Amino acid sequence: MDLVEPVGPARLIPPTVRVKASYLSGERADCLARGTPTDWLGPASDDFDAFVEERSGVRTRWGVPYTTFWYVCGDQYIGTLVIRHRLTPELAEAGGHIGYHVVAPWQRQGHATRMLGAALIKCRQMGLERVLVTCDVGNIASRKTILANGGVADGQARGEYRFWIRTQEPDPIDL
Ligand SMILES: CC(C)(COP(=O)(O)OP(=O)(O)OC[C@H]1O[C@@H](n2cnc3c(N)ncnc32)[C@H](O)[C@@H]1OP(=O)(O)O)[C@@H](O)C(=O)NCCC(=O)NCCS
Repeated sequence: MDLVEPVGPARLIPPTVRVKASYLSGERADCLARGTPTDWLGPASDDFDAFVEERSGVRTRWGVPYTTFWYVCGDQYIGTLVIRHRLTPELAEAGGHIGYHVVAPWQRQGHATRMLGAALIKCRQMGLERVLVTCDVGNIASRKTILANGGVADGQARGEYRFWIRTQEPDPIDL
């Protein structure tokens, strides 16, 4: 894929049709890097408006309401982050409040660390004072991402390390 160097800071924003090209190329490259199916990208490309609509606003999955954000710099899509508004007993063991990924072409450049930091402000705005974030015990990159954002270890469950993170007040400059 052609990487367009992002200009300026990236932000967590609601899914948007504006980043269609970079979303599709980034997710395709990510699927190929991971060896996962790419067949969902065809329908997504055919009706990207509907694809975005299906990911917008507050949705329900895992038995809880959740909101999806895309991490974007200009027109460049970098990754996806999901905030679950509350926990079920199962999510309170493993799964937690936040899930995320950075697409392969943009990994190892600090994006996940900054994206999770931005999410902690969103979480505070949503009324969450602390959040549970969990990662597979073998996922060194995710563990480092969580620790870099103040994660405090709270044991393991179902093959995942558990961490609590205090959410952050937005910087007045960003309001
Ligand atoms: C985990 C993930 C989000 C990290 O994204 P990223 O943008 O590459 O992360 P960062 O650049 O902020 O790196 C965070 C740390 O992990 C390290 N890291 C990143 N990728 C790594 C890898 N493949 N192996 C070892 N360390 C890695 C970085 O060097 C950095 O360490 P440092 O703080 O010591 O410099 C990304 O690899 C990903 O999307 N993976 C698949 C989905 C996933 O695992 N999601 C998390 C579920 S809990």
